[in-house]
Amino acid sequence: MKVLITGIEGFAGSHLVDLLLKEGWEIHGIKHPESSFENIAHLGPNVNIHAIDLNEHDQVRSHLEKIKPEGIIHLAAFSRVGMSWQSKVYTYRVNILATANLLEAAAESASPPRLLMISSAEVYGPLPKEKMPITEDYPMNPVNPYAVSKASVELITGQFMRERPDLNWKIVRPFNHTGPRQTLGFVCSDFARQVALIEAGKMEPEIMVGNLAAERDFSDVRDIVRAYKLLLESDSADTYQVCSGTAYPIKGILELLLEKSSREIKVSVDESKLRPIDTPMIVGDNSKIKKDLGWEPQYSFEKTLEDLLEYWRGKIKGDA
Ligand code: GDD
Repeated sequence: MKVLITGIEGFAGSHLVDLLLKEGWEIHGIKHPESSFENIAHLGPNVNIHAIDLNEHDQVRSHLEKIKPEGIIHLAAFSRVGMSWQSKVYTYRVNILATANLLEAAAESASPPRLLMISSAEVYGPLPKEKMPITEDYPMNPVNPYAVSKASVELITGQFMRERPDLNWKIVRPFNHTGPRQTLGFVCSDFARQVALIEAGKMEPEIMVGNLAAERDFSDVRDIVRAYKLLLESDSADTYQVCSGTAYPIKGILELLLEKSSREIKVSVDESKLRPIDTPMIVGDNSKIKKDLGWEPQYSFEKTLEDLLEYWRGKIKGDA
C-alpha cells in the first residue's frame, strides 16, 4: 500500500515506518519543518519525507494531490498530557485545527484515502475501579486539555464520516505505550533517562518523580504500531482500543527500573510534576481488536522497559 504517515519523525511514527518498510509498503511521511530527524535518520532514502506544517491548508492539499496516498495514518500530535495544562491553545492548534485541515484535504481528494485517526484512552476520563476494564462503548468524559483535544478530533472525524459514508476512516484509542525512542514528558522515559544519567555519573543518585499512585495500561510501541497497520488494512469503519489489558502501578514501574540499575537511588517527589487532575486508573479491554483483527501483543512489559533503559543508556553515552 502507498501510505502517508503524519508525525513520521515521532516516537510511534518511527516504529511504524520500521514495520511498514519490512512489509514492502511505499512510505511517505509528513514531518514538521522544525522537528528533529533523529528518530528517522536510520531510514535513509527508502522513505519520502515532506517537511510541511499541517496547519497550512494549501500545502497539505497540494501534497495529497501529488502523493495520492491510498492510506493515511495520522500520528502527528502534541501528546504530553502533563504539559498540555500549560499549553492549552498550542495543544488545540496542533491536535484539533491541524487535524481538521488534514481531514478536509483528504475528503476533498479525487480519490479519498483510507484514514486511521489516532485518538487516546484519555478520552474516557476518570472512572471508578469497578468500571474497569474500559470497553469501546464507554462514553467520552475528557478532563484535561490533551483529552479534550483528542475527544474533539473524534467528533470532527465522526462528522466527516456521517457526511461522507463512502470514506473508509476509523478511530483508534491507544492506551499508554512506551519503548525505545520515547521522548521526555512520558513517565517511563522520564524515569529511565534519570536512571541512565545517574549510572553515567551525570546526575546525583536521586530520581525526581510525580504521582506514583496512578495505574496505567502499558503496551510496547512495536505492538501498538502493528495494530495500526492491521486497522488501516481492515475494511471495518469502527472504533478500536489498543491496550494490554493489564494495569501497571506507576510505583511498580519505578521499582522495576530501579531494580535494573546497579546504583542505590533515592526517590523524591517533584511537586511540579503533579497534575491538577490525574486520572487514578486507566485499564482497557482488548477483546474487540483481538477478535476482529487477530491482533496479539508480542512484547512483555519487562522487555519493553529493558529496551527503553538501554536506549537511554546509549543516548547518554552518545551525548558525552
Ligand atoms: N510524564 C510523567 N513524568 N508522568 C509521571 C511522572 C513523571 O515523572 N511521575 C509520575 N507520573 C504519572 C502521571 O502523573 C500519570 O499518572 C502516569 O505517570 C502516566 O503519565 P504519562 O506517562 O505522562 O502518560 P499519561 O497516562 O498521562 O498519557 C499517556 O497515555 C495516553 C493514553 O492512555 C500518553 O502517552 C498520551 O499521549 C496517551 O494518549
